[in-house]
Amino acid sequence: MIVGTVMERKKYEFRVGLAPSSVKEYVSHGHQVIVEKDAGIGSGYTNDDYENAGAIIIDKTADVWAKSDMIVKVKEPLAEEFRYLRPDLLLYTYLHLAANEPLTKELLAKHVKAIAYETIVEEDGSLPCLAPMSEVAGRLAAIEGAKYLEKPFGGSGVLISGVPGVSQAKVVIIGAGVVGENALKMLVGMGAAVTVLDVNLKKLTYLDDLYGNRIQTLYSTSDHIEKAVTEADLVIGAVLLPGKKAPKLIKRDYYKKMRPGSVIVDVAIDQGGATEVSHSTYHDEPTYVVDGIIHYGVANMPGAVPRTSTEALNHATLKYGLLIADHGLEQAIARNDALKQGVNCYQGDCTCKGVAEALDIPYVVLH
Ligand SMILES: NC(=O)c1ccc[n+]([C@@H]2O[C@H](COP(=O)([O-])OP(=O)(O)OC[C@H]3O[C@@H](n4cnc5c(N)ncnc54)[C@H](O)[C@@H]3O)[C@@H](O)[C@H]2O)c1
Repeated sequence: MIVGTVMERKKYEFRVGLAPSSVKEYVSHGHQVIVEKDAGIGSGYTNDDYENAGAIIIDKTADVWAKSDMIVKVKEPLAEEFRYLRPDLLLYTYLHLAANEPLTKELLAKHVKAIAYETIVEEDGSLPCLAPMSEVAGRLAAIEGAKYLEKPFGGSGVLISGVPGVSQAKVVIIGAGVVGENALKMLVGMGAAVTVLDVNLKKLTYLDDLYGNRIQTLYSTSDHIEKAVTEADLVIGAVLLPGKKAPKLIKRDYYKKMRPGSVIVDVAIDQGGATEVSHSTYHDEPTYVVDGIIHYGVANMPGAVPRTSTEALNHATLKYGLLIADHGLEQAIARNDALKQGVNCYQGDCTCKGVAEALDIPYVVLH
């Protein structure tokens, strides 16, 4: 199979679908890999890195799309890329089609075989191609939160760890999933006083076993949230209700009691955010202030660290990509049910129930 990757065109997207280490794997499995010139530059990979891994560098974007049997990307194709879609092209990338009717229509009309990273679901319900980006976002949330607490960034001037004789920052994490757990790991390491809230008692028990009295766990009720948030220097919003908008757990009313310059890192912003005033921001202007409280609302946090994010994403996507390349999509999904769930469009049919329901279009079961 000819496997290709192109430069991402979305604003502030510096990740790339294939890292050189993945290229090497595809090549060692007997596939040919073509890479658009400079596609990896944003993640720190040179054209030489790709050539040394066995790829062929191609100048023109259109040629990469035209020659590839499978295109491996990071983000969904933009309108300017629709012209490259064609029947039987395998498109393997994040798609988020439930919120993108124009792209869905294009993929169906052009009979593309589209596999979405975000709907690959393992037997235990885990989302292997989403988890690494939540890991990055959770860890970054701790770093960004600590940064915006600094006075020059408008913060209250509290050092996360404190120093001997001076208390450390009080940090509240709402939602103890992948994001929350990774933020927690960093913040405990940084010496913060952390409280974690969740509605999943099993999760809280696990964290209590792991960290003991170095952290406080609280069942997530509005009372507990209000008390914890109003006393916090830094709040990390990391809730998720699968398939729904994030609940607005952090009320504007609480801000009156908070110390001015306290920070809310609203990681759940890609699902609408966890505060009543949430709106999304970009990396060039990541924060906004409401009633003296700093809100960080970047919806694409992993984009700030493309080198790490590209590597982590590749580690998650490579396994399924190789399955497709080695066996063809039809054989690959017969062997792997998780991958089968990733197929959103197949030769003109919508094969993902969630997407079909969201867009009110016919759903066809993939056999
Ligand atoms: N901004 C970004 O760049 C970025 C990157 C990655 C993930 N995210 C977002 O971060 C959020 C969390 O992702 P995740 O991978 O950790 O999800 P996850 O499913 O692993 O964890 C979500 C947690 O929220 C908990 N929860 C649900 N309702 C709650 C409530 N009322 N109170 C407290 N906890 C509650 C769940 O029990 C679960 O433990 C999602 O919205 C995800 O889309 C954003």
